Amino acid sequence: MATFDLKDKTILVTGGGRGIGREIVRNLAGLGAHIIIVGRNQADLDQVAKDHPGQITTLSADLSKQKDVDRIIAQISKDHPNLSVLINNAGIQFVANLLSDDTKANIAGARTEVALNVDALMSLTIGLLPVLKAQPQAAVVNISSGLAIAPKEDAPIYSATKAAVRSFCMGLRYQCQTDAPHIQITEAIMDLIATDMTRDYSDGAMQPADAAKALVDGLQAGKPAIWIGRTKFLRIINLICPPLARKILR
Ligand SMILES: NC(=O)c1ccc[n+]([C@@H]2O[C@H](COP(=O)([O-])OP(=O)(O)OC[C@H]3O[C@@H](n4cnc5c(N)ncnc54)[C@H](OP(=O)(O)O)[C@@H]3O)[C@@H](O)[C@H]2O)c1
Repeated sequence: MATFDLKDKTILVTGGGRGIGREIVRNLAGLGAHIIIVGRNQADLDQVAKDHPGQITTLSADLSKQKDVDRIIAQISKDHPNLSVLINNAGIQFVANLLSDDTKANIAGARTEVALNVDALMSLTIGLLPVLKAQPQAAVVNISSGLAIAPKEDAPIYSATKAAVRSFCMGLRYQCQTDAPHIQITEAIMDLIATDMTRDYSDGAMQPADAAKALVDGLQAGKPAIWIGRTKFLRIINLICPPLARKILR
């Protein structure tokens, strides 16, 4: 595991305007990085830029739209050819009963979740690999979840998207180990974190600042997998007794 000095590095954080992403940006700014943040809400992005003067570039985009993803890839490749870390943090979760009568809304929700959590994450990664490959050292960090190990009953689509992220990290890591060992592929497996996403069920949730610090520490340490909070125990439970892990997460 090679360690990664993030000082003066250019780093892209999707969803850097609020939630866990904003705390990741705070950590990276403290280490002297330059951070490009992407999100839909320009006011949130501007506030983060104000909090860290001279260290932030904001790019407004709806990453559930392929044309916006393509625009971001083109813009970063042209304007930031020194990008050395991509942190795919933006994500969305819909709680849905797929047997309800709201079929149209359920399909729309599923499409948005897959578009943002999977399509955008994979497209940004693939699209920016040429830039990352050109650096002496680079990293991609993708955020998954305990729900990548086993699904939660009320969020089957979201859980499936995070399982896809987990598998993608592993497969891409194999390719980089063979062809580009200077690119580190890291999966950050999140615990339940108290953010807008979980505002209705955040009892016992970890604080986003603590989760972000664990992620950035793991990135600097060159870890391929960063098990955050109680997911460390989940990992062991799943190794010893997968049915128990499934029962806990359900
Ligand atoms: N919170 C948890 O318990 C938990 C647990 C496991 C994994 N995670 C994962 O951690 C990551 C961050 O989650 P969070 O809890 O910080 O969520 P959050 O507070 O809801 O923040 C989501 C972030 O994603 C951005 N985003 C949402 N839709 C977007 C879109 N269409 N295009 C561009 N950006 C978009 C948001 O910015 P805009 O609204 O400005 O677009 C915001 O910055 C996600 O991948 C999530 O799945 C969270």
